[in-house]
Amino acid sequence: MGIIRRPGLVFSGLSAFATAIFLANSGFGQDPAPGAGDSPDDATTSFVLPRSGPFEPADISIGNEAAIADWFRSAHANAASEAFSHWDDDGEIRAACATCHSGEGFRDFHGLDGSAAGVVDGTIDVGGVVDCGTCHNAGLADITEITFPSGLVHPVTGVEASCLTCHQGRSAGIDVEEAIADLPLDEANAELRFINPHYATAAATWLGGYGASGYHYDARDYSGRFFHARPVESCNSCHEPHTLEVSLEPCLTCHQADRFEDIRIARQSYDGSGNTTVGIRSDINANADRLMDMIRAYTDEVVGAPVIYDGNRYPYFFSDANGDGAIDMEDGSPVPYGSWTPRSLRTAFNWKLVTTDPGNYAHNPEYVLELLYDSMADLGEPMDIDIDEIGLRR
Ligand code: HEC
Ligand code: HEC
Ligand code: HEC
Ligand code: HEC
Ligand code: HEC
Repeated sequence: MGIIRRPGLVFSGLSAFATAIFLANSGFGQDPAPGAGDSPDDATTSFVLPRSGPFEPADISIGNEAAIADWFRSAHANAASEAFSHWDDDGEIRAACATCHSGEGFRDFHGLDGSAAGVVDGTIDVGGVVDCGTCHNAGLADITEITFPSGLVHPVTGVEASCLTCHQGRSAGIDVEEAIADLPLDEANAELRFINPHYATAAATWLGGYGASGYHYDARDYSGRFFHARPVESCNSCHEPHTLEVSLEPCLTCHQADRFEDIRIARQSYDGSGNTTVGIRSDINANADRLMDMIRAYTDEVVGAPVIYDGNRYPYFFSDANGDGAIDMEDGSPVPYGSWTPRSLRTAFNWKLVTTDPGNYAHNPEYVLELLYDSMADLGEPMDIDIDEIGLRR
């Protein structure tokens, strides 16, 4: 069971367990019902999968077949990706990781498998992906709120519960605050370690200052959730839930642009270029690049221990003691950066949070621009750089 043969592709992404779960939740022969979003208590539950094989492709209703084919080509189904194969050598996924790295772990965490909600009860088998039963699950309708790493408890309806569980990241500004509390701002401290917000943190960006995922500076206000404009409401207003792609056409009702990257509403330039003919993404990227340059300059000039970033290697920030632009090596391994100061740690956290979300400009441009500006102003202080003078805007 669980294998559907279609011309040109073999579908076997579902574990027997997952299959059992969603078959229990859906009747064979039923017409696919509309999904989440139609009414507040309507989770995305209905689709049709034959109870057991073998069967002919013709037995599968077209709607379902299209959904499977779309999903199969998406990142959610890519069992070979690092996000799903990372634990293969261990043979099991740790409970702390399973919620977001396997449909089975997700169901366990939310108690959709009959277990206690709010915790994964043990290790989870490897091989799981974001399968159908993650989003097509009657139990989703009963999930009314999701807790974020900042401690924020956010109300959800239907399938939103799924996206917001997995795309919320794993740490927030509050974790950085705790780590650096009461420490002298510019003193290197070997106890400090880089705090990684984790990956694909779209929901954290989207909720903005209200979600409190970034490191927030005292006496600064932060833009809240990006409400955008009706009917743009939640993740699936823009992302097709199976391909996960966003199509440009619906955006053009309100925006004039040939590409997402060119969309702009803001009339001011944030990055000092004075250019408002480019998309807002251009300002965000320019400021993110400048922030990274400033982090490097600060660790060099103020701390005397230059840091270097490598996005391909955990923990991403390494030591470059002689400042030659190459990562220091010890016994053939790169040396993780060990001279964090509170100031470099909090600015690096904000930089990573912003840049780990490639859709940041559509998810919450104002919030990410604020985090970048405040972090640059923070580093500017000890280096005597007035960022307003170079035309940067918040
Ligand atoms: C709150 C949900 C969540 C939790 C909990 C979580 N992750 Fe992730 N993780 C994600 C998401 C979402 C991605 C997908 C990022 C992408 O590749 O687009 C990801 C990606 C990854 C990747 C791939 C990174 C890359 O560079 O492609 C690794 C490795 C990883 N996580 C490790 C872990 C480990 C180890 C744990 C447990 C200690 C864990 N994750 C817990 C959500 C989570
Ligand atoms: C990440 C969440 C998610 C996953 C995983 C997912 N779906 Fe869906 N699916 C949805 C949402 C949301 C809708 C509602 C779409 C709408 O209302 O426009 C939907 C709608 C459907 C529909 C109704 C017809 C359509 O295409 O709109 C079918 C059939 C369906 N899904 C089948 C599946 C099958 C089979 C799988 C696994 C191969 C799957 N889905 C995986 C979220 C998901
Ligand atoms: C069980 C956890 C989980 C749920 C639920 C989930 N995702 Fe994901 N999502 C992931 C992981 C893990 C990845 C990275 C997969 C990979 O690298 O192959 C990912 C990748 C993505 C991507 C990136 C696609 C790409 O091409 O790189 C988008 C967009 C996305 N998810 C949107 C959504 C939306 C919208 C929802 C809700 C309808 C959702 N996700 C629900 C875990 C989840
Ligand atoms: C206003 C439309 C819009 C909304 C709402 C939206 N997104 Fe996005 N998202 C985008 C765009 C545009 C991109 C960039 C797409 C690209 O580069 O192909 C993106 C990118 C992403 C990515 C990274 C994909 C990649 O290529 O790695 C993820 C993950 C993601 N979104 C998840 C979500 C989640 C989860 C939500 C809800 C909390 C959400 N998005 C809400 C438009 C939106
Ligand atoms: C119903 C109209 C409408 C639709 C449809 C729409 N948007 Fe928007 N968008 C707006 C409005 C209004 C704003 C300004 C909101 C604000 O600043 O509070 C905006 C702002 C933005 C911004 C930030 C621009 C800036 O300069 O700050 C981006 C990026 C964006 N939208 C992307 C998208 C994408 C991508 C889509 C399609 C997936 C989309 N929008 C669909 C109305 C819309």
